[in-house]
Amino acid sequence: MATRLAVFASGTGSNFEAIADACQSGRLDAEVVLMVCDKPSAAVVEKARKRGIHSFVFSPKDYASKSEFEREIIAQLAATKVDLVCLAGYMRIIGDDLLEAWGGRIINIHPALLPSFKGAHAIQDAWEYGVKVFGVTVHYVTAEVDGGRIIAQGALSYEDGTIEDLTERIHEIEHLLYPEAIERVIRELNK
Ligand code: GRF
Repeated sequence: MATRLAVFASGTGSNFEAIADACQSGRLDAEVVLMVCDKPSAAVVEKARKRGIHSFVFSPKDYASKSEFEREIIAQLAATKVDLVCLAGYMRIIGDDLLEAWGGRIINIHPALLPSFKGAHAIQDAWEYGVKVFGVTVHYVTAEVDGGRIIAQGALSYEDGTIEDLTERIHEIEHLLYPEAIERVIRELNK
């Protein structure tokens, strides 16, 4: 049976689309059954609506605490019978409630070769550092930010271009790597 995915995003949603496309085309034996977004104005909200994917969109400020909105997310994950949570540009640190309920079944994509360049500005940081090999990492999510076990990585040698072009190339790698990594995780979950 197809694995039921939730994708969490806060922005553009290009990885959300890459995952949904891979499911739709049958490249990935999975289905995106829930999109979770913490920014009502994010482009990903419209993308999910157009695809008819059920969404839970919220504003953290409407909740008294992270624990409160995470408990709502946990209820949504249960109601939609999700098997695996894929963070795709979700700009929030996962809290204790979600980690306790979903630990081991949350993965994330990060636009750098971890353990280098953790944090929210990885591409910029790597660029400013002057590295010559950039990349992408898909990893399990734990309490240590960008610190969980690595599932897959993709690398790119890059010199003499612009950061805009580099960013585009990194996104291209992400869109191929994330569905592949999800497939690997599904195989592990089904063992
Ligand atoms: C990606 O670069 C991802 O690695 C990072 O956030 C970005 C999300 O982009 N975590 P998009 O919203 O999927 O286009």
